[in-house]
Amino acid sequence: MSTEPDSAPAAPVFSNKNPFQARHTANIRLTGSASEKDTRHHEISLAGSGMKYMAGDALGLIPTNCPALVEELIAALRAKGDEPVTNRDGHVKPLREALFRDCAITFVEKKFVEAAAEKGATLLKDLLQPERSADLKAYLFGRDESHDYVDILREFPELQFTPEEFVKLLRKMPPRLYSIASSLLAHPESVHLTVATVSFKAHSRARKGVASTFMADRWDGDTTAGIFLQSQQKHFFLPPDGQTPIIMVGPGTGVAPFRAFLEERQALGHKGRNWLFFGEQRRSEDFFYEEQFTGWVNDGFLRLDTAFSRDQAQKVYVQNRLEQNAKDVWKWLEEGAEFFVCGDKSRMAADVDAALHRIIETEGGKTPDQAKEYVDALKKAKRYKRDVY
Ligand SMILES: Cc1cc2nc3c(=O)[nH]c(=O)nc-3n(C[C@H](O)[C@H](O)[C@H](O)COP(=O)(O)OP(=O)(O)OC[C@H]3O[C@@H](n4cnc5c(N)ncnc54)[C@H](O)[C@@H]3O)c2cc1C
Ligand SMILES: NC(=O)c1ccc[n+]([C@@H]2O[C@H](COP(=O)([O-])OP(=O)(O)OC[C@H]3O[C@@H](n4cnc5c(N)ncnc54)[C@H](OP(=O)(O)O)[C@@H]3O)[C@@H](O)[C@H]2O)c1
Repeated sequence: MSTEPDSAPAAPVFSNKNPFQARHTANIRLTGSASEKDTRHHEISLAGSGMKYMAGDALGLIPTNCPALVEELIAALRAKGDEPVTNRDGHVKPLREALFRDCAITFVEKKFVEAAAEKGATLLKDLLQPERSADLKAYLFGRDESHDYVDILREFPELQFTPEEFVKLLRKMPPRLYSIASSLLAHPESVHLTVATVSFKAHSRARKGVASTFMADRWDGDTTAGIFLQSQQKHFFLPPDGQTPIIMVGPGTGVAPFRAFLEERQALGHKGRNWLFFGEQRRSEDFFYEEQFTGWVNDGFLRLDTAFSRDQAQKVYVQNRLEQNAKDVWKWLEEGAEFFVCGDKSRMAADVDAALHRIIETEGGKTPDQAKEYVDALKKAKRYKRDVY
């Protein structure tokens, strides 16, 4: 029988559908002024939410669009902005507000291309032919050549969409996920993120990643934004035994959850050995959390290997550092270490995986098949955990 009084309020559960409206409390550049990147440390207050996360979890953020882009789009539609439109949820609101808050307006939906082709944009009709699918992909998403709605509406001035018609072709604003870079034990009621601000130029216009530039430039003062937690404890979690050694491979923003792991292990007084492989472009510009990490190295809490890819003629990546330390990596694995990887999925994670296989082959005296079996066994035992994006 429950001992809770009937009137006990249920703890609020925040989710993508019911996000907590949070304030941004710190926005600090981690990259130097000569860096090619703008990567930032963000702090977000959880005060009043009751939200609790664990090291390894991710934060969901629901951003708003850049107001200047919203105005460009309204002009390209030859609208005024105050026209009423019906959102996906059935609510009627002014076009400007729907474009600002509810809709994805930076990358074009195929159904918009189809609608534009139907309205007579013959070039787009051609791109929709099955044999042109690679060209369509390049046209919509190509590196430094993607076309957004403003580009297309300007390129085809004959196209006319009513505000209502246009909004119906848009996707709902998707939330973005970020690896949490802090431990709640070290920072009660706060969540830290390590975020690379996305910006590029296409067709002579500055293009901005929605959420990363929202955090960098537009989330200040009393402005709140919807957040929610996403547990990742099924696939990305610290070993329950605090004595277990861990090897963490986290170049770029991939370092975020490892800062959380280290803060958590320090707060808990866990004695397991910690080894971090961090990589970025240049030591002088891009050594995120240098003071905190070198402090931990000096305290004997952390073993740190860095790979600053552009500090010498030949690129050096985290997997090169792993292989240079192959003997010790193998020794740690044989002693029960867990192996973690976080960051770029398309290139880094695959290259680190290949390096891990090579280390097991050379140091463990195994054939490629045996090395694969060894890695499969690590995965099965949840000793090889990845969070890649
Ligand atoms: C589990 C998880 C954890 C993550 N953790 C982190 C983290 O800790 N830190 C972090 O920074 N990110 C993290 N990400 C990525 C993050 O969710 C966002 O995808 C990222 O911040 C970009 O979002 P945005 O809204 O700023 O950009 P968007 O508006 O979503 O734009 C990004 C898009 O722009 C495209 N693009 C970028 N450059 C160009 C170019 N030159 N030409 C054409 N297109 C281009 C990209 O291909 C991408 O599709 C994580 C993702 C996942 C799934
Ligand atoms: N898919 C892509 O083409 C692509 C490209 C860039 C970023 N991203 C994404 O952009 C986001 C932010 O990236 P980020 O700024 O955190 O870091 P990042 O672009 O992953 O860069 C961090 C470090 O990793 C190096 N690196 C590049 N290729 C690598 C490889 N194959 N193996 C190991 N290291 C490699 C980079 O070196 P160099 O830069 O000197 O090569 C840099 O020193 C992430 O979501 C990432 O996935 C994707």
